Amino acid sequence: MKALLIACAAAALATPALSADLLAPTGRWSAYSAGPAATPPMGWSSWNAFGTNIDETNILGSAQRIVDSGLAAKGYRYINIDDGWAAKRRASDGHLIIRADRFPSSRVGGNTPTFKPFTDRLHAMGLKAGIYSDLGRNTCSEAYSTTQDDLPKGSIAEREVGLYGHIDQDIALYFRDWGFDFIKVDGCGLRDYGPASERVRSGRFRALGPILDSGSVSRTDIPAIQDLFRHINLTLKADNPDGDYLLSLCIWGAANVRAWGKDYGAISRTSDDIAPAWGRLLVNYDSVVTRSLYAHPGSWNDPDMLYIGAGDFNAEHLTEARSHFALWAMLDAPLMIGADLRKIPPSLMDIFGNADIIALDQDPAGNQATLAYDSSDVHILVKTLASGDKAVAIFNRGSGAYDVDLHAFHLKFADNAPIELTDLWSKRETNFIDHVRLHVRPRETLLFRAHGTRALKGGYYLSEIPGRVNPAVDGVTYPTPDPTIFRTAAGWAGTNGAGDRPTYAGWGGARADSTPYGQVLQISGKPFRAGIGILANSRMEVRNDGARQFKADVGVDDSATDKSHSVVFSIYGDGKLIGRSRPLKQGMPAEALAAPIDGVRLIELVARSTGAQNERLPVTWGDAALLDQ
Ligand code: GLA
Repeated sequence: MKALLIACAAAALATPALSADLLAPTGRWSAYSAGPAATPPMGWSSWNAFGTNIDETNILGSAQRIVDSGLAAKGYRYINIDDGWAAKRRASDGHLIIRADRFPSSRVGGNTPTFKPFTDRLHAMGLKAGIYSDLGRNTCSEAYSTTQDDLPKGSIAEREVGLYGHIDQDIALYFRDWGFDFIKVDGCGLRDYGPASERVRSGRFRALGPILDSGSVSRTDIPAIQDLFRHINLTLKADNPDGDYLLSLCIWGAANVRAWGKDYGAISRTSDDIAPAWGRLLVNYDSVVTRSLYAHPGSWNDPDMLYIGAGDFNAEHLTEARSHFALWAMLDAPLMIGADLRKIPPSLMDIFGNADIIALDQDPAGNQATLAYDSSDVHILVKTLASGDKAVAIFNRGSGAYDVDLHAFHLKFADNAPIELTDLWSKRETNFIDHVRLHVRPRETLLFRAHGTRALKGGYYLSEIPGRVNPAVDGVTYPTPDPTIFRTAAGWAGTNGAGDRPTYAGWGGARADSTPYGQVLQISGKPFRAGIGILANSRMEVRNDGARQFKADVGVDDSATDKSHSVVFSIYGDGKLIGRSRPLKQGMPAEALAAPIDGVRLIELVARSTGAQNERLPVTWGDAALLDQ
């Protein structure tokens, strides 16, 4: 029942009735695309550089450098105040009070400080302004700060500066009155203030929930969290008639947000906070890299802000700093600088300003890179660009050097035609046919733009264009933590406790060129290099851009442990049935499906089974492609 509720709630935006058939075609794209994030947002945030020790001078100092250095002209626009700006919530009317000693410009006339002069200043510089709040009554720093210095002061109620119970009032204040353009909404208020927590037992805070448990999706009230985001969204819409606002979801991959965050806001965090440590980069990267089908123009995966400029990513570690930037660009991550730009040396400014790499992140096709080669040490990531060229990253995660053979098939390019690689750091060109051997040093990421002849003539495999494929219902009914995400000893608890456990639910979600559990796609002994792996009882939406035919070889994947239930694969064009398979069971050969899609704008791919446990029934849309003929 819980699973049903989760699945229903995930689709509730599109289908209000809880009893609705979630696999029924809707004829419409359901992922969020309302905001101004057709490409991933870029900018700067105060958190990594300053924590709660923020003030107007240091924020505006970085903003000025963004303009003066030319980074603004390259797309860095959002200047976001993170946690630490609130002094209190005024008892008489619930109005939020700014720490005016830190933001002197807020003291204009009257007794109530306002951020309007601050946002006016940023807007006059051609920039956008972002603010921070929490889904609960209290913020993350109120839960975790080791000092009281920068925290809200006053009574329990006065220190409740989060959105809970104040969504309409606070959003109106931030957007209508103060003129912000972006809001990051954190989740500690729903997680860290349960009645058993020390901070509540000590009488310092009011109990709430916990509604969210990052370590246990089954102890998380997903519909309640979705209700809050839905309310925030409606309010944002009402308070921003021009539509120029951006919602950043920050619940760290918890609450199975993988499945539904893309329906609610422009960016959604997939992991806990990044730190200036290589191991944390791997955690955050891993939480995104297998989720390319969950990112689209308008709604992006967010592996957290850039930490270039500190620790393992400082100027003494240019290899790591460049890897960080290259990977975030390949993943279509928001590029939010987290450094004090007044103090950043030219070698690191050059990384932020690499126009060719920014262009990968901002490529209008919005295809997050997919994994073409996957091991614990080396990843090959490939991203299809709007021009049809590819970007390819060869990422050495480990501590030893590797010679890596990059093949034409990794790029889905023909193996008998020349391929040109342009190194996006050195701009050097290399040409090869079929394969080339490349040396990659520890922690290095080689990054190229690749031009070649497409192996698939006259079309694209769906796995090449994940920005146009939305797993609206991915079939996951029992969300479990993803065991493939790197677990670092440098996590928040250090080596105290029993270790860093798999946390982020989403194992078994839809994957490009892989089964949901990371295996090679295979139907009745026939492997597929290209295709979509998803679970039974799933529905994908595919945006068509002028293609005339859809083709796929479909079947239950050989990896299915359910050998008895059958699956029927259906294709819909703008809501109408245009193709259907026979009932197919594990072990049966793939069935070739082809459907005309001339003039069709939205294709829906449904894999339906009755009575099965979806998690035991992975299905394969082998070689699924949109073709010109
Ligand atoms: C959480 C978020 C961080 C940051 C802090 C602020 O940890 O994940 O990005 O906003 O809260 O306290």
